[in-house]
Amino acid sequence: MENKKRAQWGSNFGFIMAAAGSAVGLGNLWKFPYLAGKNGGGVFVFVYLLIVLLIGFTIMLGEMVIGRSTQLSSYNAYQKISKNWSFIGAMGVITGFIVLSFYSVVGGWVLNYLYQYIAGGIPSDTSAYFVSFISNPISPIFWNMVFMAATAYIVFKGIGGGIEKACKFMMPALFVLLIVISIRAITLPGAGAGIAFYLTPDLSKLTTGTIVAALGQVFFSLSLGLGCIITYGSYLGKGENLEKNSIIVPFIDTLVALLAGFAILPAVFAFGFEPGAGPGLMFITLPQVFDKMPLGWVFGILFFILVLFAALTSSISLLEVTVAYMQDQHKWRRTKAVIVLSTLMFLVGIPASLSMGIWSNVTIFGKNIFDSLVFASDILLPLGGLLMCIFIGYVWGIDKAVAEITIGGKLPFRLKGFWTVMIKYVAPIAVIVVFLNALGILKL
Ligand code: PFF
Repeated sequence: MENKKRAQWGSNFGFIMAAAGSAVGLGNLWKFPYLAGKNGGGVFVFVYLLIVLLIGFTIMLGEMVIGRSTQLSSYNAYQKISKNWSFIGAMGVITGFIVLSFYSVVGGWVLNYLYQYIAGGIPSDTSAYFVSFISNPISPIFWNMVFMAATAYIVFKGIGGGIEKACKFMMPALFVLLIVISIRAITLPGAGAGIAFYLTPDLSKLTTGTIVAALGQVFFSLSLGLGCIITYGSYLGKGENLEKNSIIVPFIDTLVALLAGFAILPAVFAFGFEPGAGPGLMFITLPQVFDKMPLGWVFGILFFILVLFAALTSSISLLEVTVAYMQDQHKWRRTKAVIVLSTLMFLVGIPASLSMGIWSNVTIFGKNIFDSLVFASDILLPLGGLLMCIFIGYVWGIDKAVAEITIGGKLPFRLKGFWTVMIKYVAPIAVIVVFLNALGILKL
């Protein structure tokens, strides 16, 4: 049926919950607080906000326009506008595949932590527990399978009855849980030092490393650069206001990232832990914080439910990118696409998971399999965003894009001029500079 008439969101609110659901994920709750903790706290937050405002919004609007204009998922959308540029869409589908392969491994860890909290808690040596769990050859793979199955089930149910419905429930629930946990963290005795660390930008701590980390994080966190928002945008009706949507979605995502920092960093300070603990912050440090808190196990359960919801609303968007491609391009039925793709991604996730343990000595360019997948996505997302800017700015043309945007609403505040400059010059140049710097070609 969907092959005949394209599915649509039930309402604009449904689209916003789905797109914000895609954006709000492990990137906000797991990565953002530890990146802020590692990169000087307030100064990272400041640079991050600046990049969201300038580049995040620009690319978000760009992706929405391409999707809504063509009513096609990423690959076919580029192809419809200009045949030679469909490779950007193809790259996006591959990137979506790569990201979900490792994302669902971490989603599985979250499920396991939730299960452990419900079953009574995490052993007090949280570091030893984490290491022994992720290096186990069976249990993380089992949880990865459960996580992928849940993702597949929602996507199998379709746009309105699956993705939209799930996000309309999970996103508000997530928000309420996050507020409750943030209030608990901020009101802990000794939390002030964490709040100060988080909110005071000490510009002397600004390094190029901070800027590179923030840029990569903006792409990942806003789900940009692989055509996810193109795909979600393709289910939007012509009457919806794209420009408003492209402000609201990054706003919600950023709010949640900021709140996640409030939920985590003050508590880490209050109990005298190290904020720069890196990826272990959520799985090692935070369980220790819960251990010390009155009713900590309740907060442990609430917190991991929250993270699970966030992770699921993102993983479904990643799966949808690849499923929609199979439907649009190869005319596969949704059921077949969901089963085949989620199984393949799960299979790629197995070596990624094993690379935390028995396969840790298998390396690609010096990185283990899991880190190689993450690294590939760190490059592919900004590259996809860069190519999209070039595509809109110089191939499709700003005027056609703006004509599409204005169908559902006017462009106020001279937004057209701003967006044109951003998409043609500022965003591409910023991404190129950061790339060259990261490759060591340009020293900032
Ligand atoms: N934005 C998600 C997060 O922050 O966890 C991850 C993600 C989802 C990245 C979808 C890219 C994407 F297309």
